[in-house]
Amino acid sequence: MKKLLMALVLASAVLTGCKLQDKAGNNAASALDVIMTRTSIRAFTGEPVSREQIETILKAGMAAPTAMNGQPWRFVVVTDKAKIQEVFGSGFRSEMFTTAGAVILVCGEMSTDGRPNMFWYEDCSAAAENILLAAHALGLGAVWTAGYPAEDRTVPFAAALGIPSNVGILCTIPLGVPAEDPEPKDKWKPENIHWEKW
Ligand SMILES: Cc1cc2nc3c(=O)[nH]c(=O)nc-3n(C[C@H](O)[C@H](O)[C@H](O)COP(=O)(O)O)c2cc1C
Repeated sequence: MKKLLMALVLASAVLTGCKLQDKAGNNAASALDVIMTRTSIRAFTGEPVSREQIETILKAGMAAPTAMNGQPWRFVVVTDKAKIQEVFGSGFRSEMFTTAGAVILVCGEMSTDGRPNMFWYEDCSAAAENILLAAHALGLGAVWTAGYPAEDRTVPFAAALGIPSNVGILCTIPLGVPAEDPEPKDKWKPENIHWEKW
């Protein structure tokens, strides 16, 4: 159903004059279409994700805003099936990882040369959301799985992947060709908005 919606959105964008074009001048779904149709994907076909797709997704991640343009993010990308199995294959709902084409760990320098990066967590969250949106825009699926500050979701991965102690793992994102097609959740709740004053 979601694929049908995306196809209709793309078709109508082409017919009505597309709002966004990529650098090559190709029609693309608008940013709002991508935001509104993204949903977490937790089942993948096992097909690989290309290096080019991963780099496009990471470029989107690195396009996010950061405090004082600090860009404290660092990314660890695991595509090797055996490595994915070894590092992520035994935890809760591990099939999310073992069927993925790639796993991206969104990490951040919590401190640089002994000085704390106060906003690493927020900066990396902005990158993580861009990564989820870019994956969706490319027709891939992805899900944010919790990392920092949960030690059981960070310490074993840091040890297995050689991540230094001043670098935190904000989240771990398996991504790949979707093997499920869930409806995006409707989260619009006007009661959560306080206009002008609480
Ligand atoms: C900070 C954070 C931690 C999350 N941790 C997990 C997780 O550990 N496992 C998981 O399956 N999904 C996790 N998610 C995904 C959420 O469950 C999901 O975004 C939420 O249910 C809303 O669904 P949607 O992404 O389809 O809109 C996490 C999302 C965020 C933002």
